Amino acid sequence: MSENVLVALRGVSFTYEDGPPVLSGLDFEVREGRALALLGRNGSGKTTLMRLLSGGLRPDGGEVTVEGRAVRYDRKGLTALRTTVQLVVQDPDDQLFAASVGQDVSFGPLNLGLSDTEVRARVAESLAALDITALADRPTHLLSYGQRKRTAIAGAIAMRPRVLILDEPTAGLDPDGQERLLATLDGLRASGTTVVMATHDVDLALRWADDAALLTPSGAHTGPAAGMLARTDLLAGAGLRLPWGVAVARLLRTRGLLTGPAPGPRSPEELAALAAGTADGGDAHVP
Ligand SMILES: Nc1ncnc2c1ncn2[C@@H]1O[C@H](COP(=O)(O)OP(=O)(O)OP(=O)(O)O)[C@@H](O)[C@H]1O
Ligand SMILES: [Mg+2]
Repeated sequence: MSENVLVALRGVSFTYEDGPPVLSGLDFEVREGRALALLGRNGSGKTTLMRLLSGGLRPDGGEVTVEGRAVRYDRKGLTALRTTVQLVVQDPDDQLFAASVGQDVSFGPLNLGLSDTEVRARVAESLAALDITALADRPTHLLSYGQRKRTAIAGAIAMRPRVLILDEPTAGLDPDGQERLLATLDGLRASGTTVVMATHDVDLALRWADDAALLTPSGAHTGPAAGMLARTDLLAGAGLRLPWGVAVARLLRTRGLLTGPAPGPRSPEELAALAAGTADGGDAHVP
């Protein structure tokens, strides 16, 4: 893979006060333009890793780099990191604090010292991207959970980060809300934002991500999602099951219905296409 490494952890170690080491000597890379799913069992350190990448935590050892340069933890260095990387935490109530949606989303851009015109433009653009323009004047405490989640994401993208990191963004959203969020993320990806998300949903990871990183006690194992999410050994180590699509592909192969290098379906729609013999690159024969 030759993509530009935007942010990385190089041999990073981290321990919370009074706790056991959470990460030790961890290497982790976010490559430009590659949608990355981060998976691992509860307590494996996903949230910690994301807070290190976005500058909320500082490593005890090793370094965080942005385009190869080590991050400096002074005001200037952190501002530079935060305009490159934005983290959306799992619980929107930990992120939202302003009285109204519009005020909350404008907070980051105002802090960058941008002009009022520029701030207004960014807020309008972010609210539109998240489909919450109509909520601009609503008090944040009156929003539904899904609306608060969208507001938190709007606040992050108003910073126009090159890397948007989302901690379990689909947790607590209804199926339609999940689909709308994925469509929004696709839009951001199309406009050049690199998106990283932590999730426990292997089917979602297989469908959405270019690459998957499995965080296990032996380190982060990263590679193309279809391959990583078929690694039964690593998945078990990360407390995960085989994605539905990979399990179906295995079954189709044992029945001789799927041959050649075809990766197998990642969604019911792809299974239907496979069954109809229209899947690209596929060599499937379903009678
Ligand atoms: N603020 C904190 N102070 C002390 N220990 C913490 C703190 N936050 C997390 N930990 C510990 O660090 C370890 C990693 O936690 P982390 O939240 O990074 O895991 P995670 O992979 O995000 O888990 P989950 O899937 O449950 O969200 C856990 O053992 C947790 O108890
Ligand atoms: Mg977490």
